[in-house]
This record gives sequence, structure tokens and C-alpha cells, in this order.
Amino acid sequence: MKKWCFLLPLSVLALGLVLPGCGQKSAETAAADDAVIKVGEYASLTGKEAAFGQSSHKGTELAIEELNTQGGVLGKKFKLISEDNQSKSDETANISHKLISRDKVVALLGEVASGRSLIAAPICQENHIPMISPSSTNPKVTEVGDYIFRVCFTDPFQGKLLANFAKKSLKATKVALLTDVAAPYSVGLASFFKEPFLANGGTIVAEQKFSSGDKDFKAQLTAIKAGNPDAIFVPGYYTEAALISQQARQLGITVPLFGGDGWEAPELIEIGGKAVEGTYYSTHYSAEDSSPVVQEFVKKYRAKFKGETPDAMAALGYDSALVLADAIKRAGTTDGPKVRDALAATKDFVGITGKTTLDAARNATKGAVIMTIKDGKFKYVETINP
Ligand code: PHE
Repeated sequence: MKKWCFLLPLSVLALGLVLPGCGQKSAETAAADDAVIKVGEYASLTGKEAAFGQSSHKGTELAIEELNTQGGVLGKKFKLISEDNQSKSDETANISHKLISRDKVVALLGEVASGRSLIAAPICQENHIPMISPSSTNPKVTEVGDYIFRVCFTDPFQGKLLANFAKKSLKATKVALLTDVAAPYSVGLASFFKEPFLANGGTIVAEQKFSSGDKDFKAQLTAIKAGNPDAIFVPGYYTEAALISQQARQLGITVPLFGGDGWEAPELIEIGGKAVEGTYYSTHYSAEDSSPVVQEFVKKYRAKFKGETPDAMAALGYDSALVLADAIKRAGTTDGPKVRDALAATKDFVGITGKTTLDAARNATKGAVIMTIKDGKFKYVETINP
């Protein structure tokens, strides 16, 4: 009897603490978790490449919202858990671990910049969590392992089409290169341009370097001017591309500048102003595309985001979420290895950026467009199919 009297208050106390506290709450959380499919997104929502993360995120968000309106998949709605890496590498690693271990997401969507996709990819691979990069074009991203996919074209394709564009459209036989050595995307695209350009009889008259975040490019541009190129290729991101264009014009360089998809952001024109008039870049999609699929997307995006026109990152972000949902549906489960297998079997999935078929190397093959800047606006020039 004495024993009971002693034990009872203790056990009541224990129950009182545990049940309404952690025990009950975790049961509720687990039930709530089971009712949704959690998808992780890591993006540069702030910082140097915020334009990339913001656009990609908006496209992803729109897709998830639509999927949920249609009832989701496997009888469950999607819950998008987005994390901002502030355009930083170390933050990318932190939030990838967090999304996988703490939030228990079924897959990761991201990133735009290849350098940061290359940070998250090994973490996803190790944990057998499928990752889909909407728009990272560097080949190394999907080479990380069999859980890593992309829904866009790769830089060997982009480099080659830019080499052809330089020769045929810009009539450039002498090109100068200005590469961002801190960005794997830039280093890769420079070499994927160089090889076919040289093979086609072109010459590289100057090769200069900079690092993301640099503000003064006068020394490199002076050396480039001395090489007397017909055009300057800047495989980099929009902020530096805009500043380089400005400083080139200040130094009296009049030849065209051109770049790849990294140039795509409203900031290119906002920062570059008149200096980016007549420059060119390649990218994944144009909102001017008259196809009903594209026009319907542009309409829905504008309605949701205050009249904003979706760019390539938005279109690819949207497609990445739909490709994932389609794979989960076909897999019939959110189990990582099965979703991986279903993703690998993706064939002719119709999206905004064309049909997605994931090949043995987990890459998509899609057409590109060339854009120019005219009268302070982005303007579609041509489509180049693979
Ligand atoms: N392709 C670029 C990279 O791999 C990112 C990017 C995609 C930029 C689409 C603009 C548009 O880093």
C-alpha cells in the first residue's frame, strides 16, 4: 500500500507531462505529416542571385498550387517546404540536411545555379532522396549519382549552339572570353563554347577571368580590347554580365557581347541600362512563344504574380514540380527508391519548356531560344532545336 501511494503521484505526474506535451503533439504531427506529401525546395530567395531563386520559386509554387487544386496525387495534397540559401554554398548544405532529416521531404527541387546544385546533390544522393534541378545546366550536377535529375538541357548543347550563333549570326571569327572562375557553370560553359568554336575555324583572341561578386572589370576589358575581337563571350550571371557590358562601352568597345542562360533576369537591363542594348543570350524558353501551353502558363502566372511575366527559371521551376508529381503518381508511393525509378522512366512529359524525357544520364534534351535586348526590353530572336 505504501508503495502504491508513492508511485501513483509520480506516474500521474509523468503522464501529465508526457501526454499533453511531447507525446500527444508528436502523434498529431505524425498524423498531419501522413496526410500530405512534403516536397522540399532550396532556392536563392535572397542574396546575389535572388532573381533566379525568386522566379524558380514562383513557378514551383504555382505548379504545387494547381496540383493541389486538382486533388494532389495518391489522395494527398502537396506541401511545399521552401528554404532560402541566401545564394550561399554553406547555407545550401545546411538547409538540404534540414529538409531531409527534420522535415522528411520526399524529394528536393533545386537549384538554379549549378554550383549550389552540386552542393545539395551529394546530400540527396547519400540519403536516397531524389533531387530535380529545374535549371542547372552543368553536366557534373547529374553525374553526382542516380538520384539526381534535371529537366533542362545541358551546357555541352548550350555551348555548341552559342558557338554556332557567334559564327553564323554575329559573323564573329575572333572571340574574347571573360569567365567567372568562381562559378562551375561559367567555367563549364566557357569550355563547351570554346571547343566547337575552335573546331569551326574560330579563334579565341583573349581569355580573361573574374570571380562572382567582382565589380571592376576594366583591366580584363582593356586586355580584351587589345585582342581586337569581333564579339565578347561572357558565360556568367546577370549582375556581372550587366556591369561588364557597361564597362566595355565605357572603354569604347563597340562589338557585341553575348552570354548563356545565366544572363536571364530583369536586373540585366535594370543594372546594364543602355549598355546591354544589342547584347544576346541563350535560354530555355520565351514568354513570346505563341504555343497554347506557354500562353496559358503566362496568363496564369501573371494573374497570380501581379502581372509579372514568367522567365525561364519560372517555367522550369513549374515543370520540375509537375515532373516530380507525375513520377510519384506512377510510382504509387513516395518511397525514395521507387520515386527515383519512376523519375528515371519519365518520357514525353508535356510541360512549359517542351517535352521532358529523362535519358540514362538523367538529363533532358530540349530546345533553346536566343534573346536580345532591344529598346530596354527582352526580345525573342530564334529557337534552336537539338
Ligand atoms: N544554367 C545556370 C546554371 O547552371 C542557371 C540558370 C538557369 C540561369 C536558367 C538562368 C536561367 O548555373
